[in-house]
Amino acid sequence: MTTRSEEPLLTVETPEMSESGADPGGVPGARQEPAAGSVRPPTEVAMTVRDLSAWYGQRRAVREISLDINARAITAIIGPSGSGKSTLLRCLDRMHEVVPGARSSGQVLYQGVDIYDPMIEPAAVRRTIGMVFQQPNPFPTMTIYDNVAAPARFNGVVKGKAAEDDLVQRCLTRAALWNEVKDKLRHGGTSLSGGQQQRLCIARALALEPKVLLMDEPCSALDPVATLQVEELMSHLKADYTIVIVTHNMQQASRVSDATAFLTMGEDRAGYLVEVGPTSEIFTSPKQQLTEDYISGRFG
Ligand SMILES: Nc1ncnc2c1ncn2[C@@H]1O[C@H](COP(=O)(O)OP(=O)(O)OP(=O)(O)O)[C@@H](O)[C@H]1O
Ligand SMILES: [Mg+2]
Repeated sequence: MTTRSEEPLLTVETPEMSESGADPGGVPGARQEPAAGSVRPPTEVAMTVRDLSAWYGQRRAVREISLDINARAITAIIGPSGSGKSTLLRCLDRMHEVVPGARSSGQVLYQGVDIYDPMIEPAAVRRTIGMVFQQPNPFPTMTIYDNVAAPARFNGVVKGKAAEDDLVQRCLTRAALWNEVKDKLRHGGTSLSGGQQQRLCIARALALEPKVLLMDEPCSALDPVATLQVEELMSHLKADYTIVIVTHNMQQASRVSDATAFLTMGEDRAGYLVEVGPTSEIFTSPKQQLTEDYISGRFG
C-alpha cells in the first residue's frame, strides 16, 4: 500500500514473486520477523475487523462485526442469503464504498494498518487485497496473455516484454493453468471453459502481487471437477496468501477452510457475526444453536 503522499511509511513490500510464490510479508515494522531458525507462528493475524457496520443508503446490511483473519490460512464466511457476506467481503478491500450511497463504519486493519485511513489510496488497498468474483470475468476483448499482463502493466507492476512473459508464465503456473494454455496464449480469454476462466481470473489477481485474496463464491458457477481444481489451487495458494472465501457450499467450507465465520440476519435484517472459530470446531461442536441449525440444514 502506498499513501497519497507516497510516503514510505505504509509502503507494502512488493518483492518479485519467487518460485514458491509471493512474499507473505506486509507493512515493514508492522510484522514480527521470526528469529533465525524459528518457524513463523501459524496463527499470525493478517487482517483485523473491528466493529464493522455497512449501509446501503439508510439500510444497514452489516452490523458491528469483529473478527481476526489469520495469515496464510483460508477463512470461510458462511450464512444465509442476504446476511451480508458479500458486503463484508467488499468492505475488506474498500469495494463497498464504490456503490453509490454506500458507507461503512468501524475499522479494517491490514497488518495493523487501517485501510480506511485517509492517507491510504483505495487503489493501493485493492492491489494488496485482491478480489475474485462469483462469475469468471476475464476481459472479453483480451487474449489469455493480456488478461494476466494488462492490469499488471497498467499498474506498473511489470515493465518490458521479457518481464511480462515471465510474469504471465509464473502467474498462470501458480493458478494451475499454464499447462492447459501455454500453446494458446494469444487466444481470447473467454475461449476457455468456465473453470479455466476462473483460474485465469485468479492468475490475473495474482499478477498484481496481492497479499490477500478475497473470493466471493468462486466456484458457484463451476461444475464439480472445476470446483475441485479451484479448491486444490486454494489449498496450494494458502502457503503464501491469506484467503477469505464466501461460500454457500458447506462441504466446500469444511473441506478447504481453516477458520469459519457464520453470519446471520438480526431482527433489523442486518447481518451479524454469530460465531467464528476453527472450521473443525464450527462444523462439529459449534457454540451457538443458530450455527448448529444452519450447518445441519435446519435453517437458511
Ligand atoms: N448494491 C446494493 N444496493 C442496495 N442494497 C444492497 C446492495 N447489495 C446488497 N444489498 C443488500 O444488502 C444485504 C446484504 O447483501 P449481501 O449481498 O451482502 O448478502 P449475501 O450474504 O452476500 O447474500 P447472498 O448469499 O445471496 O450472496 C441484502 O439485504 C441486500 O439486498
Ligand atoms: Mg453474496
